[in-house]
Amino acid sequence: MLINKKVAIIGVGKMGEILLDSMIKNNLVKRENLSGSTAREEHAEEINKKYKVRTYLDNKKMVLQKDVIILALKPQMIKKVIFEIKEVVTEKQLIISIAAATSTQFIEDCLGKNIPVIRAMPNTPALINEGMTVLCPGRYADKNHIQMSMHIFGAVGLVEVIYQEGLMDVVTALSGSGPAYTYIIIESLTEGGVRMGLPRELARRLTAQTLLGAAKMVLKTGMHPALLKDAVTTPAGVTVDGLMELEDGGIRVTLIKAVSKATEKSKEISQ
Ligand SMILES: NC(=O)c1ccc[n+]([C@@H]2O[C@H](COP(=O)([O-])OP(=O)(O)OC[C@H]3O[C@@H](n4cnc5c(N)ncnc54)[C@H](OP(=O)(O)O)[C@@H]3O)[C@@H](O)[C@H]2O)c1
Repeated sequence: MLINKKVAIIGVGKMGEILLDSMIKNNLVKRENLSGSTAREEHAEEINKKYKVRTYLDNKKMVLQKDVIILALKPQMIKKVIFEIKEVVTEKQLIISIAAATSTQFIEDCLGKNIPVIRAMPNTPALINEGMTVLCPGRYADKNHIQMSMHIFGAVGLVEVIYQEGLMDVVTALSGSGPAYTYIIIESLTEGGVRMGLPRELARRLTAQTLLGAAKMVLKTGMHPALLKDAVTTPAGVTVDGLMELEDGGIRVTLIKAVSKATEKSKEISQ
């Protein structure tokens, strides 16, 4: 589907590089059809050497004749870069934006043309093909554009599509920011193991694999987490005492509030 398409990534930073690397490794796009831009010349040279793709500092020049343009920029750069390229982009091109808190309508309005735009919210585990990406099409994007985007992000993990763009702030706060919350949980459980005498490296491994296994149980069995929890919790056993402490510390409310607060922040930035 993408193999003969020309794809340009504006902003080959952390996320842009993950996507570039994946498109090459998974043979999604031919290397000669891939290009990327950065703000700094030395970074462009580094990407060119590392991936053997054409790199640019001039976005306007890069996007000419490309089929797909991925905007992998910080939100505050989006407007400036769109104004750089708007003259030359056409309605035959697809724009995929991974910028947080930046609506498809904002991009469409800045472009001033009926250009298909897909908003995507990936997360950093995409680096190891365990990402979670949510896509949301703009006004002019059709099924084919969604399919192409699913192809790109499907190579680095799971993909969901939503059509209510207001929910992208929640997605950002949940799966976009979620890895950071999870690392705190991993750190804390590890600390618990260390406090009780386990070597740190061992405690970290046990924790990470336990979270991974539990997450896979939820995804693979489709069972409700409460039922999976019950299966671990023997009456008058060890686990229930641990659970009591978690409840006492308000873990549920704390996590719910974390997502709510981060959603509010995303909404605030969007405006
Ligand atoms: N990191 C995450 O967990 C995550 C998850 C989901 C979504 N996102 C979203 O992804 C976007 C990118 O985030 P990131 O973490 O990848 O940021 P990043 O590492 O800072 O990458 C941004 C890149 O944009 C380049 N750039 C800046 N101005 C440019 C311009 N005028 N033309 C071309 N390139 C330019 C920078 O180039 P130089 O390196 O040369 O300065 C940098 O490489 C953000 O909008 C973020 O909200 C991030």
